[in-house]
Amino acid sequence: MAEFKEAPAGASVAQKVTVWFENRFPTAFAEYKKHLSEYYAPKNFNVWYFFGSLALLVLVIQIVTGIFLVMHYKPDATLAFASVEYIMRDVPWGWLIRYMHSTGASAFFVMVYLHMYRGMIYGSYRKPRELVWIFGCLIFLCLMAEAFFGYLLPWGQMSYWGAQVIVNLFAAVPFIGPDLALLIRGDYVVSDATLNRFFSFHVIAIPLVLLGLVVAHLLALHDVGSNNPDGIEIKATKDAAGRPLDGIPFHPYYTVHDILGVSVFLLVFSAIIFFAPELGGYFLEYNNFIPADPLKTPTHIAPVWYFTPFYSMLRATTDVMVNVLSVLVGLAALAALFMGSLPGKGKIAAVVGAVVSILLLKTFDAKFWGVVVMGGAVIILFFLPWLDRSPVKSIRYRPGWHKVLYGIFVLFFVILGYLGIQPPSDIGTVVAQVGTIYYFGFFLLMPWWSRIGEFKPVPSRVTFAAH
Ligand code: HEM
Repeated sequence: MAEFKEAPAGASVAQKVTVWFENRFPTAFAEYKKHLSEYYAPKNFNVWYFFGSLALLVLVIQIVTGIFLVMHYKPDATLAFASVEYIMRDVPWGWLIRYMHSTGASAFFVMVYLHMYRGMIYGSYRKPRELVWIFGCLIFLCLMAEAFFGYLLPWGQMSYWGAQVIVNLFAAVPFIGPDLALLIRGDYVVSDATLNRFFSFHVIAIPLVLLGLVVAHLLALHDVGSNNPDGIEIKATKDAAGRPLDGIPFHPYYTVHDILGVSVFLLVFSAIIFFAPELGGYFLEYNNFIPADPLKTPTHIAPVWYFTPFYSMLRATTDVMVNVLSVLVGLAALAALFMGSLPGKGKIAAVVGAVVSILLLKTFDAKFWGVVVMGGAVIILFFLPWLDRSPVKSIRYRPGWHKVLYGIFVLFFVILGYLGIQPPSDIGTVVAQVGTIYYFGFFLLMPWWSRIGEFKPVPSRVTFAAH
């Protein structure tokens, strides 16, 4: 056992209590130092660095409001819708708790999308932070599952039919599809059995995994240290005491700094909750104020906005799109054949790969490939650390046209999101197809384009001007 410390002579009561605790729980004090008061974060963090702590704040809001919702919610197909109305009208402050939770769901995705994009533009996923990124991608998958399961619970028309559409997608998986969809639903249609299992996943299983992943995400980050807008490793320049010269202790500097982000966030969050909780049907869809009716399919079924970029990619994968993809695969193999730097074996592999891919594309129907495209759009993110071959991490030191590519990426992502909310149209489908091809092209061709162009010299110390 470690030596017991003594409080200094004349110590205040607070100091004595602190020493009492430190003697009995030294781990807590050591962890506080490691992760807060002696965790050195780069001093040049900008607004992009607010979104990690804000995602953490929304996570807490969702858990706390979720606990209170569960006290009054009834996971039963005959009672669920009415229990939500009861929360909204009769439970004291129930409306506030419910609106905080529904707005929190969208806020979570806003924060996480911005947080991920920050990682992309500053190359935060690159060595040695690959695992931080991978834990992040797993968090993103969990978050999508959590939002999907939660959306069924109010048992409105959109809850019901949205779940029906998404679960039916699993039926498109070759061989095991129909059984898989049955397993997820627990019935031949979305029913009380489905509601019960979705409730169980939403309130306990996924949140547990999510919390574990968030802890792993932060521990992994603190082991390797934070990246920054310059993409420079601050651990490379230390003072005599071993502290990074360009780092400042997370607490109190960034805890205080983050209060600004939290204040602005809470301002906007409250404004939405109090003045526009449905946000024009984007945060709470109007159809969901109608109780679920298994006999009445709504004319237009659309997922909530945060799923729509991926939903758009699913809808864009038509028979025509599968043909276009087959041609693109063929062209890629042809390009490989004429690539001087590729060895003979590589050329053979490219041609065999292309033939197999085209055969597969033609064997299964477009609906199945739509599901693959939608899933692949998320899975591809896991590989980003190995796709990016740029000699610099941060976008600041990349060629101007790289910035344009990142800009178009965002533009297409937003357009895909918008199109996914709208009913399908001919022109919309073509735009979504172009957007889908750009999305995959951006990542799959990254090993090639990320190396090309004129890179600016990266300074050895971070660039920082005190405000
Ligand atoms: C519940 C969701 C999440 C929470 C609470 C969370 C929390 C955090 C926090 C507090 C930080 C440190 C502060 C900061 O750099 O902003 C961080 C860093 C980071 N996160 Fe997340 N995160 C979440 C999701 C994600 C996702 C989905 C990804 C990517 C797919 C991701 C990738 C990263 C990366 C790469 C860093 C290091 C950034 C750097 O050092 O420049 N995170 N995260």
